Amino acid sequence: MTMTGANSLSISQKAHTQAELAELGGQMQRHVYIETMGCQMNVYDTERMQEALASAGYVPTSEVERADLAIVNTCSVRDKVEHKVTSLLGVWKKLKEFNPDLVLGMAGCVAQQEGQKLLDKLPHLDLVVGPDQIAQLPSLVEARRAHNQRQSATAFVNRRDYAFPEPVAPNDGRVTSMVTVMKGCNKVCSFCIVPFTRGREVSKPAADVVREVQLLVEAGVREVTLLGQNVNSYGKDRETEVDFAVLIHQVAAIDGLERIRFTTSHPMDCTDSLIEAFATCKKLMPFFHLPIQSGSPKVLAAMRRHHGVDDYLEKVDKLRRLAPHVALSTDLIVGFPGETLEDFELTMQLLGRVRYATLYSFMYSSRPGTRAAELNDDVPLAEKKRRLQQLQAVQDQITAEWMADFHGREVDVLFEGPSRLHEAGPQSKLSQVRESRGLQVMGRTPQNLKVNVAVETPEQLTALAGRLGRVQIDLVGQNSLGGKLV
Ligand code: SAM
Ligand code: F3S
Repeated sequence: MTMTGANSLSISQKAHTQAELAELGGQMQRHVYIETMGCQMNVYDTERMQEALASAGYVPTSEVERADLAIVNTCSVRDKVEHKVTSLLGVWKKLKEFNPDLVLGMAGCVAQQEGQKLLDKLPHLDLVVGPDQIAQLPSLVEARRAHNQRQSATAFVNRRDYAFPEPVAPNDGRVTSMVTVMKGCNKVCSFCIVPFTRGREVSKPAADVVREVQLLVEAGVREVTLLGQNVNSYGKDRETEVDFAVLIHQVAAIDGLERIRFTTSHPMDCTDSLIEAFATCKKLMPFFHLPIQSGSPKVLAAMRRHHGVDDYLEKVDKLRRLAPHVALSTDLIVGFPGETLEDFELTMQLLGRVRYATLYSFMYSSRPGTRAAELNDDVPLAEKKRRLQQLQAVQDQITAEWMADFHGREVDVLFEGPSRLHEAGPQSKLSQVRESRGLQVMGRTPQNLKVNVAVETPEQLTALAGRLGRVQIDLVGQNSLGGKLV
């Protein structure tokens, strides 16, 4: 029996046991809703959870009211996200009043950090699962249902026993896909919680990465993003000749794959051969996210980044000499303990020097257990906000100038599927223009900018998805471009 409308069933109907329902016809289908917070690693983990749960008869739903299992995949990198988790679970608690069979779970970094403590604190939470235990998720849910026992699984699997989940061919028509190449991080940046929540580095064997990408390409994927907390150190934990640059070349050799991206990097491990790959590997897209965190050598030392500003800039200059078309982005933290106005000014100078295409900026937020949490968090919140706004205003201007440069140019676009009109916001000029243009297909430039192109028919839209096309840019918005097929 297929229960496609679980929420429309009355509570007494829902009280059937799994065995009863199975008897009524085949394997029971249940719905899982997963709310994903944080970085791409969490997006990837959400997909792995969905795959693991599919084998137990769970299909994803985008409506939490329909769910038999609702999981929040959490991030603890900043405390703001942690607050969001708590309020979300408060809302979900109410859903249990209408659906007592609803199982509520927490995954991701908060789950890993807090474990059993979360079950003690939140009586409506049924299970807690850490990133290393995703494969156990179906049995944890089953145990919760069958024995009415709340479950917590947060042990790290030791690196010799760690097994990456078997890849599954997607059947959702996707054109781009993430591929994790390693898990964990061996760096100890003093502000960062990730090494505590994700554990030590484990690299996926290169042959497995290649096999996985081949599987994706056979399923229609044309672009992959190789994923890890610091992919630049790929392979260092294995006795192998394959470093990250070699891995990129191996993946690039796969027929049918058009584009490769990767995220994210640590400047200290960014090798010359990786920089050279941007010049020599045509499939490696010209967009490099290279986090620096601060423009002040003093702050970088306190952050325990093990790189300075000068050696970072040397790498940037080398990249620009070898591959001038590569767009750069970075991560920056403002208001780190001890950051003076002079330190902040050095970060502002860095923006002018590098002229990043885009960047991610954050106010420092103290994370319990990290080395920086022992420092005096002495920049007042209002001052952190002021610095962040100042930095973002300058960067917005640089980004706008970078994007304006695309006007009138022809670019290669990999089309992904229908454009989402609402993304630009109902008031935006771009959204109005798109409305007036009708049906739109969305794709990305090599530098990862979204481009929307008008098409005549839904059939044309379907035909373009997964294909590369040449587009003349005639519209530059705040976050995306518009153009016409050449
Ligand atoms: N390698 C990781 C990545 O980008 O996937 C970096 C980890 S973290 C998820 C991403 C960014 O969050 C960092 O580069 C840093 O700028 C920021 N971040 C990490 N810890 C932070 C903290 N305690 N306060 C503010 N920002 C933080
Ligand atoms: Fe965090 Fe530094 Fe690793 S930012 S993820 S400890 S490279």
